[in-house]
Amino acid sequence: TDDPAPAAVVEDAIIVAKTIERDHEPKKIDYSGSQVWQVSTTKSGARQVIGRLRRRNLISTWGGNQSSVDILIKPNVVENITRVFKRESIDYNVVIEDLQKRINEENPPLDNDEIELQDRRGHRMTWKQYHRLEDIYGFMDYLAKTYPSIISVKSIGKSFEGRDLKILRISNGKSDNKAVFIDGGIHAREWISPATVTYFIYQFAEYFDVESDDIKGIDWYFMPVVNPDGYEYTHTVDRLWRKNRKPGYRACTGTDLNRNFGHHWGGKGASNSPCSEIYRGSNAFSEPETLALSEFIKSSAANFSAYVTYHSYGQYMLYPWGYDNAVPPDYKDLDNLGKKMAEAISKTGGSQYQVGSSSGLLYPAAGGSDDWAKSQGIKYSYTIELSDTGRYGFVLPTSFIVPVAKENLAGLRVLASQVIKE
Ligand code: ARG
Ligand code: ZN
Repeated sequence: TDDPAPAAVVEDAIIVAKTIERDHEPKKIDYSGSQVWQVSTTKSGARQVIGRLRRRNLISTWGGNQSSVDILIKPNVVENITRVFKRESIDYNVVIEDLQKRINEENPPLDNDEIELQDRRGHRMTWKQYHRLEDIYGFMDYLAKTYPSIISVKSIGKSFEGRDLKILRISNGKSDNKAVFIDGGIHAREWISPATVTYFIYQFAEYFDVESDDIKGIDWYFMPVVNPDGYEYTHTVDRLWRKNRKPGYRACTGTDLNRNFGHHWGGKGASNSPCSEIYRGSNAFSEPETLALSEFIKSSAANFSAYVTYHSYGQYMLYPWGYDNAVPPDYKDLDNLGKKMAEAISKTGGSQYQVGSSSGLLYPAAGGSDDWAKSQGIKYSYTIELSDTGRYGFVLPTSFIVPVAKENLAGLRVLASQVIKE
């Protein structure tokens, strides 16, 4: 038999092995000291200054409205940006002093009772936590297995990294139903979106028998995670990743899937630079995720009369067009229904949603799923920007999940009743 290696050698080997292991597991990006500022844009030239800082990659934008924008600033440039804003007399508030602190507090582990329940239920979803893709897909599969007469799950293709693109359908099986398509998770970091969409699925699936005739009379199609690669990446590496994960050019990865849809693709508010957060991709539907979604809708026999895409944040109910300052001929119908949905939300949970066209209320941004859905003749097409209005932004604590989902379910019920009426 061989002599055993001396203890010191074994120890060295273990250290080397551990180092290799550590180098291979993705290292999470640390946002310690990064700040989020709400910057006033009312002063002329302010937007240009911000645009310049963004193109130089010194800041990135989070959200905003007509009078302000929320920007993310890396710790090493905080001082520099402070000076620039002072010089240009641009006003701002520090909204988040230390982003990593917020990230650490956002999604705490479940307590033991919850974990035990999870294991008994047959699926792991809770709406007390932002879950990994595996839990979301496991939940969808569980529902299809448990309620096969009304629920089916189908993978409509693969993401760039090879993950399934799953859609769940709920239907009473009648042949002439109207249909509604709902998507979530186009933008990876907007965690409240898949959480909300899966909550809708949960409510309709578990309580279908006692649901309203409106809900039961519609064929529902849910795609809670359009961008699974990006979503997983926000859990494992970079909490604030927005795009998908297809390599672009050199170190620049990802296409903004909400700039990649083929209606006025490449127009305003979309970038042709692969390094940009709003990169439009090399062509309309150049990305497997948007292509699969669009092919599914085009080839589906379903009679879609509404399409709702959930994003965050800002509390907006937006209708087309997004590509430019224009509205479709029937925009009054969309505006009326949007206002009714917003009213239902505020009555139920208290959040105030602003209603208007994408380009009018926010900014022109071409290539969104909402515009494309509308161009396909789907009448009621909305982008809903969920909570909040900037206090936590994308890093919304888990205690918000159920309230946000519940009040938006009230909004969705209003949409359902309109769809049934038409
Ligand atoms: N925050 C969303 C985005 O920037 C808004 C999308 C609105 N729709 C549109 N077609 N621009 O992608
Ligand atoms: Zn978004």
